[in-house]
Amino acid sequence: MIDPNRPRACVTGWPVSHSRSPLIHGYWLSRYEIDGSYERIATPPGEFSRFAARIGVDGLRGANVTAPLKLAAFAACDRHTDVALAMGAVNTLWREGAALWGDNTDVEGFLGNLDEEAPDWRREVRSAVILGAGGASRAVVYALLSAGVERIVITNRTVERAEALVKAFGPKLLISEWAEASSWLGDADMLVNTTSLGMSGQDQLDIDLSRLRPGAFVADVVYVPLETSLLEDARKRGLRTVGGLGMLLHQAAPGFARWFGLRPSVTPGLRSLVEADIVGANGKSA
Ligand code: ATR
Repeated sequence: MIDPNRPRACVTGWPVSHSRSPLIHGYWLSRYEIDGSYERIATPPGEFSRFAARIGVDGLRGANVTAPLKLAAFAACDRHTDVALAMGAVNTLWREGAALWGDNTDVEGFLGNLDEEAPDWRREVRSAVILGAGGASRAVVYALLSAGVERIVITNRTVERAEALVKAFGPKLLISEWAEASSWLGDADMLVNTTSLGMSGQDQLDIDLSRLRPGAFVADVVYVPLETSLLEDARKRGLRTVGGLGMLLHQAAPGFARWFGLRPSVTPGLRSLVEADIVGANGKSA
């Protein structure tokens, strides 16, 4: 029997077996001694509205949404936060009264991670280069603009997607040819990779970091491996690096707070737990 007073949340995706969200939320439930649960629920594309109807029923307070369902989640919501509207995609769901609400916490995740790993960035970064123009890039653009970054150069293999970002976010964004990206680095305080290049099993990113000024920041949203070749190269050059794992950890916190009533911390203990899982999984697949 399901106890409707016992809070539950879940992650949904298709597939969903690879998601590390249960590890993160399970850690917090246990650390804060909350009598609740967080599970995986696979939802085939096309069946999202059936899944959405379960939220708010039998103690299911809400859900995280992962690929390929973030657009379907956006469409299923009655109400959206401003960030979700700007992203056009939803990764966090809950119900208020009859209304299904959707948020996108990737912006908060990216900012929370930068603030933790490189607190000086807000004072120092005026200009950035972003590789990629997909969903993660959109979150990074929004985050950097909201922090007052004055110029962002976007470069993407498919130029139309970069053009869509310029249309959405306006004149502080410029477009570079994909092959010309490194020529913009001399004027940049920060480089962010939002493509899947450098991820285990994917092609490597090929970019010459030599033009970045000493002390510039290099961030990667990829976190498998924990240190990508881009970050390794940047670290060896003495640049300031920010890995992608913290974005995953920080984007999880707002959902947990909403469903379980307590704002959780991203602690070294949580980080070690997820790092061990990534290293273990990589070892097995290698
Ligand atoms: P996400 O939501 O994680 O951002 P996405 O929307 O699929 O995922 O975006 C993936 C990004 O990685 C895109 O910028 C994509 O470039 P395209 O828009 O040209 O597809 C980029 N990407 C993926 N594989 C790539 C490759 N082999 N070379 C260059 N860019 C690649």
